[in-house]
Formats: sequence, structure tokens, C-alpha cells
Amino acid sequence: MANVIQARRSTVALKYSMAVSGLIMMSYLVLHMYGNLRAFGGADDFNLYAHHLREIGMPFLPQSGTIWLARVVLLGAVLMHAYAATTLWRRNKKAAGYVGMTRYQTKQNRTGIQRSYASFTMRWGGVTIALFIVFHILNLTTNTIHPGGKGELPFEKLFNSFQFWWVLLAYTVAMVAVGFHIWHGFWSAFTTLGQNRSSTRRASTLNGLAIAIAVVITVGFLAPPFSIYFFGLGG
Ligand code: HEM
Repeated sequence: MANVIQARRSTVALKYSMAVSGLIMMSYLVLHMYGNLRAFGGADDFNLYAHHLREIGMPFLPQSGTIWLARVVLLGAVLMHAYAATTLWRRNKKAAGYVGMTRYQTKQNRTGIQRSYASFTMRWGGVTIALFIVFHILNLTTNTIHPGGKGELPFEKLFNSFQFWWVLLAYTVAMVAVGFHIWHGFWSAFTTLGQNRSSTRRASTLNGLAIAIAVVITVGFLAPPFSIYFFGLGG
């Protein structure tokens, strides 16, 4: 029993749970992006789609049953991802023995430039995304933050919010953070799961695939808000 507990707390197990929880969240993002792109079918199509989502699994499950199941799985994935990330970060810091100091003697350290894009985007990107999710749920799910007025139907909430440049900017910053996070995260997850056989990151085909997925997700998410703001989509 003690061995099992020890194994679960191992660094490998934590990396593994980061990879698996990250891939669960990514699958959600792909479905969510697809749903948002339905906005191009017009307001009615979008509202109908949002309505049907609440009916998946009926009559075996109550209304919104599948959505609640997805929420529980997602929350579990978010908590697991955040716990593993902070624990691994603390372990790495302790093991490298650079508490309060820079880790390597490099020219970049001397000039105060960030050591690598990954260490910057994963840490600060992760924090940005976590803050965004709180704002996003208050904005479009509960409609507590409703810059353009409260909306009854899903498309109305979307349309009202994206009349404001600062809302568009906030979502753009968040989606760029999501893109960078996916770029490194996707590559890292499949490397953890043993799918990277290249000697360097640049030589890896996974890197190209990770970039392509990150670009598709970022552009796919940003297309409806930009079309609403600049071209009045659905108005
Ligand atoms: C431009 C980007 C995005 C737009 C326009 C958007 C739009 C929406 C809308 C309209 C809803 C409400 C759906 C409804 O209540 O019927 C929603 C919910 C949600 N979105 Fe997004 N979303 C975006 C990006 C993201 C990203 C990147 C994430 C995760 C990192 C995310 C996570 C969520 C979550 C967790 C919910 C709540 C689902 C629920 O519990 O009902 N969204 N989004």
C-alpha cells in the first residue's frame, strides 16, 4: 500500500497526470471551438445548438445531465493539472537548488531576458488562462459581467459582449495565451507519453503538429468574436 501511495506521488506519475488532464481539456476545447463556430450559421442556429447540448443523453439523463458530467470531468482535470504543475515546479526548483538565484549562467540571465519561451508561457500563460476562465464563466455562462446588457439567449450574450474593444482585447490576449500553452503543452504531453523519438525539439514532427493545432484553436476561437465586432455577425 505504501508503495502504491509513493508511486502515485512520483514525479513520473505527476507528469503523466499533467499530460492526461491536459489532453482531456484540449478535447473539450476542440468541441467548444466547433460549437462557437456555429455562430457563422446565424443566431438561431447557434441558439438551437446550445439548446441541443442540454438535451444530450435524454431521457436517460435529466436535462443538462451531460453538461453537468462534462463540468465535473473538466473541474477534475483542471484541479489535477494545477496540482501537478505547482508540485512539479516546486520540486524542480528545490532539486536545481536555485532558490532566489538564477539557475544557469547564461547571457540571457545577465541581460534579464526570459530563459525560454516555454518557462514563460507555461507559468504565466497558465495563470492568465485560469484568470480568464473565471472572467469567462462570469461573462458568458452566468452573465454576471454583461458589458452590453444582459442577454436571454446564448447568442445574445455573445453578441452584446463583443461590442466592446476591451472585451475583444481580453479574449484575444487569453486566446493567444491558450495557443502558446497548447503549443508547448501538446508537445510535452506526447513526449511524456513516450511518443517523441527525436533528439531535439526542432527535429520533432510533434512540434510541427503542436504548432498547427495551436494555430487552428486560436484562430478558430477568435473568428466569431472578431466577426461580431468588425462585421456585425448575427446582428
Ligand atoms: C473567443 C473564445 C471563446 C468564446 C467566444 C467562448 C464562448 C462561450 C460561451 C458562449 C459559453 C456559454 C455557453 C452556454 O452557456 O450556452 C462558454 C462557456 C464556457 N467556456 Fe467558452 N468561449 C471561448 C473560449 C474558451 C476557452 C479558451 C475556454 C477554456 C480554457 C473556455 C471555457 C469555457 C467553460 C469552462 C464554459 C462553461 C461551460 C459550462 O459550464 O456551461 N471557453 N464559452
